[in-house]
Amino acid sequence: MSGLDRCHNVEDFRKMARSRLPSPFFHYLDGGADDEWSLRNNEAAFSRYSLLPALARDKGEIDLSVTVLGAPSSMPVMLSPTGMTRLFHREREIGVAKAANRAGLFYSLSTFGSTTIEDVAAANPGPKVFQVYITRDRNITRDLVERTRAAGFTALAVTVDTPTPGNRERDLHTGMTMPPRLSLASLFSFARSFGWTLDYLRDQNLSIANIDPSGAEFEAGGMSPVQYANHQIDPTISWADIEWLKGEWGGPMIVKGVLGVEEAKRAASAGANAIMISNHGGRQLDQCPAPIESLPAIRDAVGGDLELIVDGGVRRGTDIIKARALGADVCAIARPYLYALAAGGGKGVDRLLALLRAELERDLILMGKNKFEQVSAADVVMSPA
Ligand SMILES: Cc1cc2nc3c(=O)[nH]c(=O)nc-3n(C[C@H](O)[C@H](O)[C@H](O)COP(=O)(O)O)c2cc1C
Repeated sequence: MSGLDRCHNVEDFRKMARSRLPSPFFHYLDGGADDEWSLRNNEAAFSRYSLLPALARDKGEIDLSVTVLGAPSSMPVMLSPTGMTRLFHREREIGVAKAANRAGLFYSLSTFGSTTIEDVAAANPGPKVFQVYITRDRNITRDLVERTRAAGFTALAVTVDTPTPGNRERDLHTGMTMPPRLSLASLFSFARSFGWTLDYLRDQNLSIANIDPSGAEFEAGGMSPVQYANHQIDPTISWADIEWLKGEWGGPMIVKGVLGVEEAKRAASAGANAIMISNHGGRQLDQCPAPIESLPAIRDAVGGDLELIVDGGVRRGTDIIKARALGADVCAIARPYLYALAAGGGKGVDRLLALLRAELERDLILMGKNKFEQVSAADVVMSPA
């Protein structure tokens, strides 16, 4: 796959993904909810903080490594869960999971992934997370937890910000459907994305691989498998259900989708070991704070009780350093690796992660540091409004 050497940052991968994907899939990946204010603000909020360069630096190797939930990560970046990765490249979740493993980073598989828990575990022996939804039929969640344990995943992440799907208007404009349907409107974009369409013809399996649509409700309801999986997300979960999940799982648990101080405290009481401060990449409630904006108050409130993962809008090494300075343990990315996957499969993800690593190393040197863990609150200033 050529052309990857022309990608030098996330925006370059984004442009390449746009040129390769049928437009309904590009916009499904790229878009957010309502007016996409939160989507834009997730990135923009990072630029309200600045970093201080410094002269002095000890000699010695640059060390970006961190520990996340007791497991090593070669740099402070995790790969967030994303559903239906097969839409973007034939290598699907396997391509991303292998690239994460090569880079020594946590990979997260979504409940809505197009690859099974077991296949991801076989492809990636390193640290990994399974993201689960609490389903109306609790036996589905129970079964997913059991399979996650048997497959040797490091942690379970429960997403709590999706009681109903966000209003993604780009999908309405492009006619995005799951599974994709060939309409007159989409025909042109499929023909234009010749490489993608050829790949699709070779492997048309776009199923949600971990939820078996065989329940009585599915049989009776006339729903598609994707509609059935969406319908299964329980919109009424409470903190008692999170406690229940922790009891079922017993291992390290992340609550994903927290932005407020009170919710963060409740997550800790319900048994979370970490939270992903996240607004689902601006795809759910629009007009909510950016994760980086919520971080300082949450760190103040929870002290050292929770590991904090900033998830949303992270595009540069400098964003990751700002997050650390404001109290995060690690950052998570989703769209950046999906753009890279669409641009060039697992090799694209390798290149993206290598670029992020090089940025982080260079930025640390420019800030007079050897180790990522030396970054502190003294290194960041709030930019004048
Ligand atoms: C195409 C796409 C699919 C996603 N699917 C899921 C999912 O199945 N479960 C989940 O918890 N989050 C999902 N997310 C949200 C991401 O895990 C993550 O929270 C968010 O995208 C981070 O923001 P970023 O894309 O700016 O890095 C998805 C995001 C995208 C872009």
